[in-house]
Order: sequence, then C-alpha cells, then structure tokens
Amino acid sequence: MPIALTKSLIFSLGLLPAALLAWQFYRDELGANPIEAITHGSGEWTLRWLLVTLAMTPLKRWSGWSWPVRVRRMLGLFAFFYACLHLMTYLWLDQFFDWPEIWLDILDRPFITVGMLAFVLLLPLALTSNRYSIKKLGRNWKRLHRLAYVIPLLGVLHFVWLVKADLREPAIYALVLAALLAVRLPASRRKEKAKVSRQTAG
Ligand code: HEM
Repeated sequence: MPIALTKSLIFSLGLLPAALLAWQFYRDELGANPIEAITHGSGEWTLRWLLVTLAMTPLKRWSGWSWPVRVRRMLGLFAFFYACLHLMTYLWLDQFFDWPEIWLDILDRPFITVGMLAFVLLLPLALTSNRYSIKKLGRNWKRLHRLAYVIPLLGVLHFVWLVKADLREPAIYALVLAALLAVRLPASRRKEKAKVSRQTAG
C-alpha cells in the first residue's frame, strides 16, 4: 500500500475516537455524567496511542515493513492530541479554570500529580517532533525522546492510583507496556555492546 494511503488511513483512525465522543456528546448518549465519560475516554485513548506509538519500532523489526516508523510521529501526535483533550476536559469542564483549586488538586491528589507530570513530559516531545528540531538537537533529540518510555509508565501509574480497587484494566495496559519495553531490551543491549567494543577498539 502506498505510504500516503497508509498515513491517511491512520489519520482517519486517529480521529475516530474523538469524533465518536463528540457525536455521542451531541446525541446526549454519554450517560448520566458526560464529563466523566469524556475524561475517561480521552485518558484511555491517550494511553492507547502512547502504547501503539511504542509498538511501531518492534513491528518494523519483526515484519521488515518500513511504514510503522514512518507513521510513528503521527501516532505520537495523536497521543498528544488526546492528552490535550483530556487535560482541557479537566481544566474547563471539571474545574472551570479555577486555577487555585487546580493547583491544590495537583498538589493534593497523587494521581493528578502523576498525570500532570506525564503531560508536562509529553509537551517537549510533541514540540520537537518536527524535522527542524531533529536536525537542531542532533543526539540530544534521541535522548529527549527516550521520555516516550517514561510517559506511558506514568500514565499507567496515574490509572492505577485512580482506580485503587479494581486493577484489572490498568493491569492490561501495564502488561502491554511491560511487553513493549521487554522486546526493546535485546536491541538496546546490542547497541550498548557495540558502543563498548567501539570505545575499546578506539
Ligand atoms: C499523558 C498523560 C495522561 C494519561 C496517559 C492519562 C490517562 C488516564 C486514564 C487511562 C484515565 C482513566 C480512564 C478510565 O477510568 O477509563 C484517566 C483519568 C483521569 N485523568 Fe488522566 N491521563 C493523563 C494526564 C492527565 C492530566 C494532566 C490530568 C489533569 C491534570 C488528568 C486527569 C484525570 C482525571 C480527572 C481522570 C478521571 C478521574 C475520575 O474518574 O475521577 N489526567 N487518565
């Protein structure tokens, strides 16, 4: 399939959950608490896109296809888009931009602290996901983008802290994340070994 078509398909898929939420909101089909439904929907989609983004490199390695890495940036930006929707729902519809109250909430509720931290870390990744930044930052770009492993970890922690009792759903995300991190270990070990042997040879 041509890459332009793959990208258009993934772009449409990325917008679909938001469009569905908007449609259900418009049709008053989000249940008794629509704000909660939007918060939960956007939060889960943030986490899903973060994990899908992380899955692209192993998918490329296993399949030999090149498209997974060519759509990675778009997927990461969708994670950011849903994170913005999630945060805006909280700031606007939940807290009515009551900044002192929001600040207290960030300090008082650990799951909000962790969510906020995840968002703050996601921000520089979204802002530097363009070609100009990749060129400008050089090696530091790769270092910065290692945060892509930390952010879903914080996302899972945020979810675990929120549900407390029924851990089944966050446990699924945690397992997927653990699997995605585990498949990357052999590759990063290989890179480390190659670096050490280059240094000792030089
Ligand atoms: C990368 C960042 C984030 C991720 C991945 C994330 C993910 C999630 C997930 C998966 C849920 C649970 C959804 C469910 O119950 O089905 C959730 C709920 C929630 N998140 Fe986040 N979140 C993030 C950032 C934030 C931020 C920055 C805030 C606000 C400052 C926030 C506030 C909330 C609130 C208020 C809930 C619902 C709590 C409740 O049900 O009482 N999240 N989030």
